[in-house]
Amino acid sequence: MARFSPLISLPWLLVSVTFLAVDATTFTLVNKCEYTIWPGVLANAGEPPLSTTGFALQKGESRPLSAPAGWGGRFWARTRCAQDPATGELSCLTGDCGSGQLECGGGGAVPPATLAEFKLDGDGGLDFFDVSLVDGYNLPVLVAPKGGGGGGRGNCTSVRCAVDLEGACPSELRVTARGDGSGVAACKSACDAFRQPQYCCSGSYSSPQACKPTSYSEVFKSACPQAYSYAYDDETSTFTCAGADYVITFCPTPSTSQKAASSQDQTPGAAATDTPLINGTMVYVGVAEASRASRSARTQVPAVGLVGVAVSTWRLRHLLSA
Ligand SMILES: *[C@@H]1O[C@H](CO)[C@@H](O)[C@H](O)[C@H]1NC(C)=O
Ligand SMILES: *[C@@H]1O[C@H](CO)[C@@H](O)[C@H](O)[C@H]1NC(C)=O
Repeated sequence: MARFSPLISLPWLLVSVTFLAVDATTFTLVNKCEYTIWPGVLANAGEPPLSTTGFALQKGESRPLSAPAGWGGRFWARTRCAQDPATGELSCLTGDCGSGQLECGGGGAVPPATLAEFKLDGDGGLDFFDVSLVDGYNLPVLVAPKGGGGGGRGNCTSVRCAVDLEGACPSELRVTARGDGSGVAACKSACDAFRQPQYCCSGSYSSPQACKPTSYSEVFKSACPQAYSYAYDDETSTFTCAGADYVITFCPTPSTSQKAASSQDQTPGAAATDTPLINGTMVYVGVAEASRASRSARTQVPAVGLVGVAVSTWRLRHLLSA
């Protein structure tokens, strides 16, 4: 063992104090949806994974996750997940991360999915965070800082996005949960839907000067003024806090329109009752429906098939675009 001389121990003490000052940050994920969700967590490249990369969160439950100083990554919620009893694979109608399991293990969300993005202890020691619709929207999200300060820069505030999908999502961007086009499950971004550079801020549009809001991003921006509506929407969509913890609530009670509140809460909830995810026991939809062996099974199986086709199509598109 080396003896500590004052010359060595003073810097060491400073380092220790610095670590204490930028102690671990707690993210608390809260499910206020009327249904089970399966949050996913993806660390940015080069950042360590958190203690979990995906799990189930029942209605009303919350779960804290600790992140080390300087961590960066994103959170989202998978919806309407079910496990295939034959293969054991988990698949989700929205936000699927392609792992086939509870843990996403380094997989990100297949769009569309509402994202909560963080970079802790960035420029000036501030945490940078946002809610992003750049990859589309699948459910309402609220990010609320707790116990932090503005670090003198003053936009350490709650950020929310709750869209009334039935009302706000343009029909060409809608992802519907049922074959008849009803039950809007998510809203794609124009980039995801059309794959064109002016929507994706790619190619000759890959700079803030060249990539401007479009009629589609403006739909998202007016529904969620605080959220990223396209890739270069930084100015109005980046928020900062110093030394805060964060509560990420899925399906928060909207603070604005009561009409939006009820339709927002009911749309996914009502859709969720179509799936046999009654109590967190995951049941593969197709098998559950088929095994009902009743007249109603005949009418439900085609809808289930369409959901399957929709999920496969998304996966295929994801693979092609990856
Ligand atoms: C919040 O502050 C950051 C850092 O000063 C700035 O980049 C960002 O544009 C501000 N965001 C809003 C919404 O005002
Ligand atoms: C959940 O549902 C399954 C299958 O329907 C049933 O076996 C189980 O007892 C239920 N669990 C609870 C906690 O209600």
